[in-house]
This record gives sequence, structure tokens and C-alpha cells, in this order.
Amino acid sequence: MYRIQIPATSANLGAGFDALGLALTYYNYVEMEECDRLDIASADDIEVPCDERNLIYLSAKDLYAVCGRKLEGLKLRQTNNIPMARGLGSSSACIIAGLVGANKMLGDPLTKDDLVDLAAQIEGHPDNTAPALLGGIVTAVFDGRKVHWVKQEVYTKLKFVAMIPDFELKTEEARACLPKEVSHKDAVYNLSRAALFSASLLTGKFENLRTAVHDKLHQPYRMELIPGCREVFDIAYTHGAYAGYISGAGPTVMAIVDEENKFFAGKMKFSLDNAGLGGWQVKELAIDNEGTLITDV
Ligand code: HSE
Repeated sequence: MYRIQIPATSANLGAGFDALGLALTYYNYVEMEECDRLDIASADDIEVPCDERNLIYLSAKDLYAVCGRKLEGLKLRQTNNIPMARGLGSSSACIIAGLVGANKMLGDPLTKDDLVDLAAQIEGHPDNTAPALLGGIVTAVFDGRKVHWVKQEVYTKLKFVAMIPDFELKTEEARACLPKEVSHKDAVYNLSRAALFSASLLTGKFENLRTAVHDKLHQPYRMELIPGCREVFDIAYTHGAYAGYISGAGPTVMAIVDEENKFFAGKMKFSLDNAGLGGWQVKELAIDNEGTLITDV
């Protein structure tokens, strides 16, 4: 039996739509072993699909197929701490769990690069799957077949504080609201900021982050789908966040905060409750530099 620990991820990081993502210290756990049938259960009270639609199983089956093998069955026990459909990479965590577990069961025939590519093909974009596997901040370009990526470990005095609402937003819906075309000016607006984000994060020029997270490709459209979002941003800036952005496809809003700003999370929760936004949970996280871990149990 293998035990897999997979981190939550925050994608886009403002302007880096479908290209930038980082791993967070917030984990799902999956216990996995080969079995002659499907035996899937939740190890907590979170409901998961227990049949062939299960994403961990489907991803494991894909990896077996790539290796010319048939997966007859699978025993899975899932602990789902990462909330679903909230922009924190819960689907990617399932995909990575399935791939890493299946690869281990077959004796590690695929390389890390292979897993990054396969995960992006399953998910359609690499900005959650790659950091979920690799950890750190990952810059990734998916050319349709292969992912060209760089992982950078981040050791900063920054906290990532997630404001997670009590409603879901499906990625398909949050992608369907985006424009099919954008202007040259907007493209330049975004690419310059995406580049500024990683450079500023990695060199400690945090005063740039507020400018770097602005974008014209997705956040203005998605904001309309997230009631309370604007107010959450305003409150985060009032309490001294360096930057705030919609995490992945939303609806979670992520604030980047200095570790010296000790009571940010408490102040945030108090202000949200006072503003009638009591359904928003506040969770203080940091960057995970390890990525997915698998152990024998
Ligand atoms: N880059 C993706 C998006 C992340 O924004 O739609 C969500 O899966």
C-alpha cells in the first residue's frame, strides 16, 4: 500500500494565466494499492465518486495504458482536505495522485517529465498539475503535447492567505466566461506583469507584487461570477496585503502577506464577518517546496 501526499496549488498568480502556479502547505492524502476490483472510499466525510468516474482511478488507468498495461482494479482511500471547485487545485491533486501512485505500482517506468506532460494532457493546462507534482513556483508552457517547465524553490517571508468562500465555481464555467480574443495592448499588459511577478517574488522585490497581479485576461470577467470578491480584495489591501489575486479559476481570493503582518488572518476574518461575508473562511498557508510525496505503508 502506498500513501501519497499531494499539495494544493494556486494557479495564474494574477497575470500568468495558464502559465504560473505554486504549491501550498495544504494537503490531500491518498492510500493506494492494486486490487482485482474497484474499492474506493473516502477516509473522511467528503463525498467522492466511488466508481469508474473517480479521477484518481482514471488517471492511474491512463498511466497504465501509456505503459501498455491494463489496470484491473484499484483500492483507494482518499482524505480530501483541499476544498473542491474553489481554485485550489483539487482536481489536479487527484490527477497527480493517480499518476504518481500508478507509476510507483509499475516500478517507476515514467520520468518526472513524462508525468508533468501526461498530467497536463489530462487537465488541459499545466499551471496546477506541474506545481502539485513538483512543488515550489512553476513556470510552464504547454505546447499541446509537452510541457516546458522550470521549478523554482521559494524561501521567503511571505504567507499566502486564502479567503475561501462557501460556494463552488466550476473551472468550465469560469473558463466559458472568458473572451475568445484579446487586444495586443492587453496581451502586453499581461505578459509584462506575469514576468514581473516571478522575478519580484524570487528576488524579494515584494512592492512590485500589487502591480504584477493585475491582469486583463481573466480576473475582470471572473470577478462578476464571485459575489463579494471586490470587497474581499479591498479588505485584504486595507490590512496590508502586498497583493491579492483570484486563485486559479476562483472563487478563492489569495492574499500575499508579509510574515511580519502577524494578525492578518484574524483581522481579515473579523472584517469579513462584519461586512456580511461570514461564509468566507480564512486559511493561512505558505509555499510548499517539496511537491508530491509517496511512501510505502
Ligand atoms: N489556469 C486555469 C484557469 C486554472 O484559470 O482556468 C484553473 O484550473
